[in-house]
Amino acid sequence: MRHLIAPEDLSVSDLDELLKLADDIYKNPKKYAKVCEGKKIATLFYEPSTRTRLSFEAAMLNLGGSVLGFSSADSSSATKGESVADTMRVISSYADICAIRHPKEGAPLVAAHNSTIPVINAGDGGHNHPTQTLTDLLTIKELKGRLNNLTIGCCGDLKFGRTVHSLIHTLTRYDNNSFVLISPDELKIPAYLREEVLEQNNVPYEEVRYLEDSLPKLDLLYMTRVQKERFFNEEDYVRLKDSYILDLEKMKYAKDDMLVLHPLPRVNEIAAEVDNDPRAVYFKQAEYGVYVRMALIIKLLELEV
Ligand code: CP
Repeated sequence: MRHLIAPEDLSVSDLDELLKLADDIYKNPKKYAKVCEGKKIATLFYEPSTRTRLSFEAAMLNLGGSVLGFSSADSSSATKGESVADTMRVISSYADICAIRHPKEGAPLVAAHNSTIPVINAGDGGHNHPTQTLTDLLTIKELKGRLNNLTIGCCGDLKFGRTVHSLIHTLTRYDNNSFVLISPDELKIPAYLREEVLEQNNVPYEEVRYLEDSLPKLDLLYMTRVQKERFFNEEDYVRLKDSYILDLEKMKYAKDDMLVLHPLPRVNEIAAEVDNDPRAVYFKQAEYGVYVRMALIIKLLELEV
């Protein structure tokens, strides 16, 4: 049984295969319209989502399969005290594959240990979001043409932003990438990423406070929202929430071919005026999420295409 719980569950050759398949699905969607006939995906979302849940559901529907699930803990028996382990034992007999999002770090791993179907981590607390990373990689590959030799700026909430954690983890595995980590002191990346991922792999990185200073050297700028739901007090959130606002004035400092990515949802960190800049690719990025999730479903279900 294969699950996708953390970025390291996929080797570089797995990633290359998934991206190749996603690219083919993007270009030839009709070819894949019946691949999952008779199959079901369960989307178990204990935390809010627009893109991840709906793109998993769109992915399965595009493949000719069906969907079932819940979109909040409130509408599930979690409110009656049911554990993730028990829920997963039951769902294993209702569906062929499952995507789970949970506010507690590690919950998808618990689900996988209690499952007889493939489990996909659709975001666990401030920890990981591996399918957002697949979306990011497909976006970069399609629009930049490579996943190596990149200077990547990650900006905003690097402490709680799980998408950044999974992205750094994965992009360090490609040659000659370096990172500029732009955040206030309170929102720097967790120590384990700095020590066990960046430093252990000798990946060049710098941690800086200001976005403007770094912009000219970046090939990619990955903006993130300050994660209100992970703060322990409102005061800290209010003080930090508008630490960075990317606008057209700042974009003047960026390279002509720098791409701006954002996992979305955005709050204030990118001004709406940036949306029409050709370097702003975050809505295209959300679209790519469907194709790469289609590829992932096919691979985890080990379907012939
Ligand atoms: N990027 C992302 O995970 O978005 P949602 O929270 O809307 O799923």
